[in-house]
Amino acid sequence: MAEYGGVNSSVSVVDDVKARLDIVDVVSGYVNLQKAGRNYKALCPFHHEKTPSFVVFPDTQTWRCFGACGEGGDVFSFVMKSEGWDFAETLRELAKRAGVQLAPPDPAQEERQVESDRLLGLLDETARFFHDQLRTAPAAQAARAYVERRHLGGETVTAFALGYAPNDWRQALHHLQMLGYSQDEIVEAGVAIRNEKGNVYDRFRNRLVIPIRDGRGRTVGFGARALNPDDVPKYLNSPQSPLFDKSRLLFGLDAARRAIRETETAVIVEGYMDVMQAHQAGFQNVVAQMGTALTEDQLRLLSRYANRLILALDPDAAGMNATMRGLNVARQTLDGEGSVSFDPRGMMRYTGLLDIDIRVISLPEGQDPDDLIRETPDAWTSLIDRAMPVADYVIAQGTAHLSNESSYHERERAARELLPILTATENDLQRNVNIQTLARRVRIDAPMLIQWSQYRQAAQTRALPSIRQQQRLAERTARPDAPGGPPGHSAIREGFCLRLLMEEPERLYAANRKLRELQGGDPSLETVLAAMNVNDFSRPDYQAIFAALARSLQQDDADVFGFLSRQLSPELVVVVEELRRPTLESFQRRLSGPLMTELKSIQREQARINTLPEPDTSLFVEEALGLRHSRLERELQELYFLQEDAQEGAQGDDLTDRLYQAKVKAYTRARQLLAKALHQIRDLSREM
Ligand code: CTP
Ligand code: MN
Repeated sequence: MAEYGGVNSSVSVVDDVKARLDIVDVVSGYVNLQKAGRNYKALCPFHHEKTPSFVVFPDTQTWRCFGACGEGGDVFSFVMKSEGWDFAETLRELAKRAGVQLAPPDPAQEERQVESDRLLGLLDETARFFHDQLRTAPAAQAARAYVERRHLGGETVTAFALGYAPNDWRQALHHLQMLGYSQDEIVEAGVAIRNEKGNVYDRFRNRLVIPIRDGRGRTVGFGARALNPDDVPKYLNSPQSPLFDKSRLLFGLDAARRAIRETETAVIVEGYMDVMQAHQAGFQNVVAQMGTALTEDQLRLLSRYANRLILALDPDAAGMNATMRGLNVARQTLDGEGSVSFDPRGMMRYTGLLDIDIRVISLPEGQDPDDLIRETPDAWTSLIDRAMPVADYVIAQGTAHLSNESSYHERERAARELLPILTATENDLQRNVNIQTLARRVRIDAPMLIQWSQYRQAAQTRALPSIRQQQRLAERTARPDAPGGPPGHSAIREGFCLRLLMEEPERLYAANRKLRELQGGDPSLETVLAAMNVNDFSRPDYQAIFAALARSLQQDDADVFGFLSRQLSPELVVVVEELRRPTLESFQRRLSGPLMTELKSIQREQARINTLPEPDTSLFVEEALGLRHSRLERELQELYFLQEDAQEGAQGDDLTDRLYQAKVKAYTRARQLLAKALHQIRDLSREM
């Protein structure tokens, strides 16, 4: 068994795990693979399809869907996507499977792990206790009647493990103590409260208890509904803690995960009852935020499983109407720091950022999904079917007051107010569609609207660089690769790109602009020359770091590393630290043999480059284009494998030649464009 003691070897653990696992074995555990020549095919597990377009390539140990979802990657990304796990979880599981021993956690970490396992056990026992009460305790008669009145059937009670907290001060406490838990632990788990006098008593009393589980189905807290209408609050939840963090949890996710993945759609409602009623009626892709604003973490969590989110939230309570009334109000003032709520501008941004389709349904006045689903399930279905893309919703709301008689001035004003919301997306295509729709609605030429929105952007970017930015400019990084050198060694390039981004995440914009420019309006190049994204990185850990860096652009905190260390798991923070090291040593440590020789020449080159003034963004742009170039190379390789099989007649013609030819053409063209652009950039930087 390979063992990794040192922190520094975290990167090679990934390689080792990959080397010891066969992607075909791992994927077979999830999908029914059929051999097709050298490769394996199956129906894509990530979207519905009738003919297989999901291919596993043993030669490159990669997978790709050539159908609707168009995604691909390595064994890590496959498992992450299938299980909805994050990188750290996936690494743990795959390492176990590969027989690779991960670095033992340090003693403090180990202690925390033991503690948290114990708390989870305690919470599990608590749920069981309340559940048993609801099922059998004579004192729970009223609670059982309430459950019935709310039309929750026996299966639902079991599936959600609903419970009853007795109308007493110490029953749960005593039960847990009997099982061996200490008062301190019971208080820490939020099941009991210790008052100023030091008395300890049950938090939940005479309430219907709803266990709240994380995405993996572990009970992490409770929501408890008052049974007596006079009791306040109506819902009493577990206190906020690292284990029970409302901003990262979604009620019902564990039960909904499967349906969300199958339908690729998640419906977000407001309440516990809404979720349970929906699941009971067979709408199993429904989850709830829990009395707080929707957060970025929650959206991100869902976007792992879904490519469409439907918000079935009460528009007024959630702040949508407030936003629509005062379009210029900054979102921070609306819903507080870091939360997304229902703010359309935030939603637009996430649409582009997470590449996800966010839709809105308006519930009939005064009706919860709970009532609606129970009374008229068909109405629910049709509401979901007619959910409006958030941009259309915004346009409809923001122009509702206009009529045929509205003056140009009025229409212009509405347009100018809506533009910043509609252009908040990172997705250019989406942005254009939004502008076209708005143009029709306000009867003002799209080019004019574009001009207005660009004017705003220009005004924003003309601001002086911040002190932090200026400092960063002063501490420029040396590049690890010779200009004009061969593409490849993607781990080095990828790591270097990340480093440049860590110093100055805004560099990403320059690269994306360049890619857009290279598209030259050719729709067939939109995918191959799309904005930089995680797929430009071949390593799963780098992908996760890149995603976090892209996110860091969406927040105002100046400290990128602080942001990264909050966002990333400890495993990834180690990788970040390693990438951050100011010299090439960290790269060097991972290299051996011929790469070492290569590195020597790179280092000589580096010494030379360090003395040159370097255009700041072009360095990153060059590296980014280089990455894209290698990625296209990788993917093209897969296409060639496929074609070979097709020629050997090993597979049906379900991946039609035509589709395939078009793809190869786009890839080849994109590669040419990239190579040309790279030459130009390099020539330029040589002249300087
Ligand atoms: N909520 C909460 N604390 C409160 C009130 C509400 O945590 N004091 C959360 C709960 O998750 C609740 C959701 O916000 O399910 C929606 O609240 P509300 O609309 O008031 O409750 P309903 O779900 O409609 O509850 P019920 O139908 O039982 O009245
Ligand atoms: Mn309700």
